[in-house]
This record gives sequence, structure tokens and C-alpha cells, in this order.
Amino acid sequence: MLKTETIIIILAAGKGSRMKSNCPKVLHKLGGKTILEYVLNTAKSIKPKKIILVCTDNIKKILSKTQNISVEWVIQKQQKGTGNAIIIASKNFSNNENIIVLYGDMPFISKESIKKLQESKKKSNLSLLTSNIEKPEGYGRVFRKKGKVISIIEDKCANNEEKLIKEVYSGTFIANGKDLKRWLLKINQNNINQEFYATDIVYLAYLEGKTISTVEPVHYKEILGINNQLQLSILEKIIQQEISNNLMIAGVKLKDPYHFNLRGTLKHGKNIEIDTNVILEGNIILGNNVKIGAGSIIKNSFINNQSQIKEYTIIENAKIGKNCIIGPFSHLRNHTILNNETHIGNFVEIKDSIIGKKSKIKHLSYVGNSEIGSRVNMGAGSITCNYDGFEKLKTIIGDNVFIGSNTELIAPVKISKNTTIAAGTTVTKNVDKPCLVYNKKKQKHKENWIYTKKNDKKNTN
Ligand code: UD1
Ligand code: CA
Repeated sequence: MLKTETIIIILAAGKGSRMKSNCPKVLHKLGGKTILEYVLNTAKSIKPKKIILVCTDNIKKILSKTQNISVEWVIQKQQKGTGNAIIIASKNFSNNENIIVLYGDMPFISKESIKKLQESKKKSNLSLLTSNIEKPEGYGRVFRKKGKVISIIEDKCANNEEKLIKEVYSGTFIANGKDLKRWLLKINQNNINQEFYATDIVYLAYLEGKTISTVEPVHYKEILGINNQLQLSILEKIIQQEISNNLMIAGVKLKDPYHFNLRGTLKHGKNIEIDTNVILEGNIILGNNVKIGAGSIIKNSFINNQSQIKEYTIIENAKIGKNCIIGPFSHLRNHTILNNETHIGNFVEIKDSIIGKKSKIKHLSYVGNSEIGSRVNMGAGSITCNYDGFEKLKTIIGDNVFIGSNTELIAPVKISKNTTIAAGTTVTKNVDKPCLVYNKKKQKHKENWIYTKKNDKKNTN
């Protein structure tokens, strides 16, 4: 006998109106990935014949731009309910395939639970993923008589007695294509929401005398769906706790695992220390012995061995060499590259620049669109003036340049290696050879002048 092939349908077209957000529900992020990505990845791990994704035009547009996912797209133009979503998808499967339906707002559904469901299908016509939970509010309840499943009663339709039922339905089921197509023809909108409920197929199967079995998920969390911001935050907490636990087991020291967030992926070396309230976002690589201070935010960056990121530093799209010291309160962004042993300090912003080995920019500076050589010292308050109102212009500074405090470098400008720039200089021309650069400003003294405040009687004589 030929093996029955499996098709997975993911329902993701719902309005998500309870989220009260402009972002489609299944595209909200959880641990840096969309809710839907979790379900898609689990679906892929089952290796079905195909995955049918029921979604809206808008979701398709967003997803096709950002990801290369191989699914069969089915567009549900009007959100007439979960049953209607499966009816639309039913054109894409045949009678002799096994159909698994997953809800796109249940990110924690696991491969193991789906396998259990597939196994139980061998002995029944319809198999449902259900679970007994303490707080069943919001879920469809599994209505049984003498232990036999009769129907699913939606929370909104349940009477007070039915609301006490603690066995809830996940929405995930398996049935063969032929049965499913027949049941779908019979479901209607005669309910409080005037929607086609996918859950109505259960009662139809019962009426036909089909065998209906139920399977418990491997883990309680798999039943958790996301319908509102509160549920999203609860699942985010669960995922962050798992991420923290895994990192600590892998040897990362999280000083406060309850206030650490990884919204993406982290590759790391040994002996990493991360203090409280740190957020890592996108793709992050940390070498050996990297330390990250409290309150720092790092996005899509690489930090090499022995570098220290001190408190409240923000780093985006940057590459940081070995043995660097950055922060507190530094801001590095837009493809900034720091070579080994650079020091960047308080209130320094660096953007689109390369900083050479052992250079120091330690206080109150702005460096934009610049190439700075090695062993350069940029004094407090020195800035590159990289924007003339129309375009961004380049500043190039050679090795061993000493820049005194409060210097302005008006781009485009090039400074020869070994040059010294006196404090308070405004550099407007290229410096071709090593020399001392300064703008003469005369200091004047007005004799016998003492500062007095208006109405300050003490200082009036
Ligand atoms: C659904 C189930 C409920 C179950 C719960 C588990 C129904 C009628 N109810 O309720 O029994 O306990 O899930 O979490 O199925 N969707 C579409 N098109 C639509 C409507 C929804 O694709 O027209 C998608 C949504 O994007 C979502 C999924 O279907 O991913 C479930 O829809 P949702 O409205 O969240 O159903 P629940 O009220 O949670
Ligand atoms: Ca839901």
C-alpha cells in the first residue's frame, strides 16, 4: 500500500483585532522572530509534502520581501473564520492525503506533539490536540459524553456549566482529505460571531460515527496561543527564560537572567559576562572574555575577544576588534569598525567610520564618515563636521595624530600622520605634512571687571 502523504495547513489570515495593532498578529515578534516563523519552522521539521499558508495579501507581501519561504500561498480575502480559511485551502489538497491544521498564532507547537498526532491518526478518523489546563478561559472546550468526544464548544458559546470544562482544544488536528472536504461542505455561520468555525468539524465527525481521538501536547506551553498583547508578553517571558537558561548552561554568565533579552541569535566564545538589562538584537557574535555592562543595547554586531562594553552603551551594525574598551554611554552605529585596542568613552558617537588600532576617543566627540589611523588621540569635545547640508563628507586622519580638545574638523579634510592640532582649532584645509596646526585666537583681559548678578546686593560695591 502507498504511504499516505501529509500536508500541513497553517492558518494565519486572522485580523488579530484583539492585538489592537497595525501589525498583523502572526508577524509580531517573539524572541526576535515572528510568531509565524516558529510555526513554519516546526511545520518544515515534519517534512510534509507541502505547507499551505493561509494568509492575507498584506502578510504575503511583507513575508515575500523579508524571507525566502517555500509554501503554497492561499489568500483569504475576507476573514470569515478558521473554517472558511480551511475551505479556501481545501482546493490545494486531495482526498487521499492526511491534512494537519496548525494555527499561526500558536508558536510553541512542537514536532514531537505533531508526531504523536500523526501516530494517533492511524487508529482514528480525526485526532485533536487538546490539553487540561487550570485557566481554560478563551479556549474552545472539549465536550465529552461518557468519555467520548462529541464537539468543541467555543468559549463565547459555552454556558456556565460548559465553561467549567478544563479540557481545551488547541485548534490543531489531523484528518484525511476526503473526510475533511466533506465536513467543510457542511459547516455554517450559525454562531455568535457569524463565522465559519473550523471546530464544527468535530461534531460533524461525531454525527457520522467517526472515531475521534485526542492527544496531549508534550509540553503544556504548546497550547498557548497569542490573541492579545498580554499573551504575547507572557510567551515572550517564557522564550526569554529558555534563551537565558540555554546560554547559562552553555557557559555565559548572565548576572541577572530575569532582565536579559536576546531578540535574535547569539554566537559566543568562552567566559562571557553580561550584566543586568542588556538587550541583544539581530545577529550577534561575541568572542572570548567579552564583558557587557548594564543597560547596553547591541544590534547586529561582532565584538572580538577581551573587549569590554561598559554600561549604557549602544552599538548597532558595528565590528569591534580585540581588547577594546567602549563606554560608558558610547554610541556606535552604521558599519563602524574599531580596530584592536581602541578606547571609546563617554558620550562619543561614531558613525560610518573606521578607527585604527590603539586610537582613543574618550569624551564627548562625534566622528562621522571618517577614517582614523592608529594611535590617534582625539581630545574631549572634538568633532568631525561631516555634513554640509547636502551630503556627507569624509574626514581622513593619519596615524599618530594628536587632536586637542574642542577641535572641529570641517570635512572633506585630510590630516597627515604625526600632526598635532592645538585645542580649539577649526581645521578647514588639508594638512599634507606633519606639523602643528592652530588657529590664532587672542585672549584679551578687561581690567577691573568683576561679574555681578542683577539684584545681587552683596556684589554691588
Ligand atoms: C481558536 C479555536 C478555539 C481554540 C483556540 C486555540 C476556532 C473557531 N476556535 O480560537 O477552539 O481553543 O483557537 O488557540 O477555530 N484565522 C484565519 N482566518 C480567519 C480567522 C482566523 O486564518 O478568518 C487564523 C488566525 O490568524 C489564527 C488562527 O486562525 O492564527 C486562530 O484564529 P483565532 O481568531 O485566534 O481563534 P481563537 O479565538 O483563538
Ligand atoms: Ca488564537
